[in-house]
Amino acid sequence: MTMKKSSKKRDSKFGFDSFNPLENKTVLLGISGGIAAYKACDIASMLRHAGADVHAVLTPNAKEFITPLSLTTITRNQAHCEQYGAQANWRPEHIDLAKKADLILIAPATADLIAKLAAGICDDLLTTMVLASPAKVMIAPAMNPVMLQHPATKHNLSILENRYRYDVIPPEYGEVACGDWGTGKMASVDTIIAAVAARLLAHLTLSTKRLLVTAGGTREPIDPVRFIGNRSSGKMGIAMADAAHGRGADVTLVSTVDVERAYPVIVVETAQEMQDAVESEFDGCDALVMTAAVADFRPLTTSNHKIKKTDSEDLVLELTKNPDIIDLLGRVKRKDQVIIGFAAESEALLSNATQKLKRKNLDVIVGNDISVPDIGFGSDDNAVIILNSDGAKESLPRMPKRAIAEHLCDLLAERFQAIEKTPVH
Ligand code: PMT
Repeated sequence: MTMKKSSKKRDSKFGFDSFNPLENKTVLLGISGGIAAYKACDIASMLRHAGADVHAVLTPNAKEFITPLSLTTITRNQAHCEQYGAQANWRPEHIDLAKKADLILIAPATADLIAKLAAGICDDLLTTMVLASPAKVMIAPAMNPVMLQHPATKHNLSILENRYRYDVIPPEYGEVACGDWGTGKMASVDTIIAAVAARLLAHLTLSTKRLLVTAGGTREPIDPVRFIGNRSSGKMGIAMADAAHGRGADVTLVSTVDVERAYPVIVVETAQEMQDAVESEFDGCDALVMTAAVADFRPLTTSNHKIKKTDSEDLVLELTKNPDIIDLLGRVKRKDQVIIGFAAESEALLSNATQKLKRKNLDVIVGNDISVPDIGFGSDDNAVIILNSDGAKESLPRMPKRAIAEHLCDLLAERFQAIEKTPVH
């Protein structure tokens, strides 16, 4: 067998083939008014050379740093700046553009623009287009380090980071335009292009799959006021659902935390409600990912009225076992379904997680050591071991929960590929 040399060269810097990898992708390049705006020309040029259809949108202040003509010439599309003005069509062209964009990249994003996005203000063309578009928005902040550290900017950035539509490409340390040193310099053009490419190319890997994800901790009512609960914030499950949705999966999230998302979210409170929701969706799904911390026990009875303090020193609650949702579904799952469980352990992580993997007939278990401070419950980060039913094992060091979720999406895509190759008897 002879091997033909591929005409597509691998561009290791950005992780994509250098032959038009972003073909058929429409990118809106938003530019706000900071000195880093001069780099927008390089960004536009690299995106266009990667095959993307790039449309530049400048804020009025951006025009003080860079001209629409430069961007029109580089992108080969008319750059947009004016919110009002004469138009050829009854429907403004920029609204159509906002709707068809695969991605909005704002580079540079000034403190002012970030504040407007956080508040939903749309007083210029760029902010209006962001609000009119369902597309993912990536922002590359660039500003003076003191402005970046200002509580208002930090607050606005955290609002965007917690909104599923936004990804922040962190600014870097270095000398900024005014001569100060610190973190605030816009990420390098290479870093921005790599992040955009990763986002645009990742989304297809789960596009034909239906994923059911659980998130949060169940609450088992004692009376109308009190409940038995746990410290799960839902962050891990929401990150998992977002990552799978970003890759094109048809996602349903069953969650004890109410979040606004572009995919269905079924909000539940108790383990029994979670069981009902998961069981009704399970048959139609290709994978179940149970990150939820489900209470193992619930009060045998729930008082209709607030339990009053009595003279007695003790209050005895009688508990009864909750259904083990994943265990029940592990017994009935089809060969073409994948189940991923999570294990929160405060000791003997490896052996306890291994036992759960086997006992609950799971395909994969993700173990986290909740005795380590600042990871696991409630935090934005986690560090996990991933155990596969075929014996494969890997450890992921501390990283954002979203990064762990992306890793699990890769793992799921591989599993689905293997299932599709398995002959059906
Ligand atoms: O929500 P965060 O704040 O982001 O925190 C994330 C997390 C720490 C909750 C998450 O990473 C995690 O570890 N989730 C599982 C926690 C747990 O309670 O594990 P477990 O060992 O009790 O259960 C093992 C598996 O069985 C889990 O997939 C669980 O969802 C499932 N289970 C457990 C009990 C039950 N009655 N029914 C179940 O389906």
